[in-house]
Amino acid sequence: MAHNLSIAVLKTGLVPSQKRLEDPILEITLWGMKFSNPIGLAAGYDKNAEVSDALFKQGFGFVEIGTVTPQPQHGNSKPRLFRLIEDEAVINQMGFNNSGMCQVAKNLTRRRNRDGIIGVNLGKNKTTENVSIDYEKETLILGPLSDYLVINVSSPNTPGLRALQSRFTLENLIEKVQHNLNKLTQQPPLLLKISPDLNDKDLYDIAEVAKKTKLDGLIVTNTTITRPYGLHSFNKTKTGGLSGAPLFELSTKILREIYSVTNGCIPLIGVGGITTGAQAYSKIRAGASLIQLYTTLIYHGMSQITKIKYDLGRLLRRDGFQKLTDAIGADHKGS
Ligand SMILES: Cc1cc2nc3c(=O)[nH]c(=O)nc-3n(C[C@H](O)[C@H](O)[C@H](O)COP(=O)(O)O)c2cc1C
Repeated sequence: MAHNLSIAVLKTGLVPSQKRLEDPILEITLWGMKFSNPIGLAAGYDKNAEVSDALFKQGFGFVEIGTVTPQPQHGNSKPRLFRLIEDEAVINQMGFNNSGMCQVAKNLTRRRNRDGIIGVNLGKNKTTENVSIDYEKETLILGPLSDYLVINVSSPNTPGLRALQSRFTLENLIEKVQHNLNKLTQQPPLLLKISPDLNDKDLYDIAEVAKKTKLDGLIVTNTTITRPYGLHSFNKTKTGGLSGAPLFELSTKILREIYSVTNGCIPLIGVGGITTGAQAYSKIRAGASLIQLYTTLIYHGMSQITKIKYDLGRLLRRDGFQKLTDAIGADHKGS
């Protein structure tokens, strides 16, 4: 309810803009696009591209919409979102509720010539058996309307989805999507969003596939089905993907490892448990070129974006970096 209400409020256009003059140290160019700052909205909030412009006014450097599926679907039955207040976390079992790719394409077309970098996160319908067909269709319809596309094979609430992360299945899926991307006059960069619940062998395999298929980037990570030690809240036993503060350590560890196994050659978007500028900075030092937020906005509101940007700029300067790019992966270089 809180989610729908906040979308409705943003739709009114009456939410005051938080957009200020951006700090030039935060600017970064990636995939030929200039990001005025590296803080993005993670997938799952603006599922249908209804409020992207209002979100840019809140100060995001980019917005990822979706997950979108070919057919509209309701998702799992309610309640499907549980707050773990004491842990500043949530567990969700949404199951890709969204209006479907045709409606999303209409919404994206409506705002087509406006500013703002929009990524489109692609998933499959719950009942689809030939999985790659869903992603292939979406690529053709949504690819021309997106600044980057994401193959999401890491949400825990669609049965069988995470199994698509295994080496040969993944390679096959990416190649089929790329085949369709090649049919477009302009190809957006193609990224893959991965789970934090992968072992070293899985990570190595994903890195190999990413290199072989020349993926443009990885989003690290989605929510976890594990329950990190020390959770206090009553709701910790609910089924679903955990996000927010308790995910920070795990998702940053995976980010660090994937940066290492890909030798820093593939741009990474770091996501999972970020609330402060210091945590955003840690992700960047661990190897992220961009970062994303979701759960912190539930607990701290949109004003957190401005605070994170301010602190990130301050920390970069404190450590003698001239620009954000110089800090990416700094932990691996000993600087
Ligand atoms: C309510 C909710 C819905 C989400 N839906 C999606 C989704 O549809 N697709 C996706 O790739 N990630 C989804 N996510 C995961 C987020 O994009 C993000 O990867 C994760 O929450 C970790 O970031 P955070 O700790 O900043 O929230 C969702 C997260 C939440 C909390």
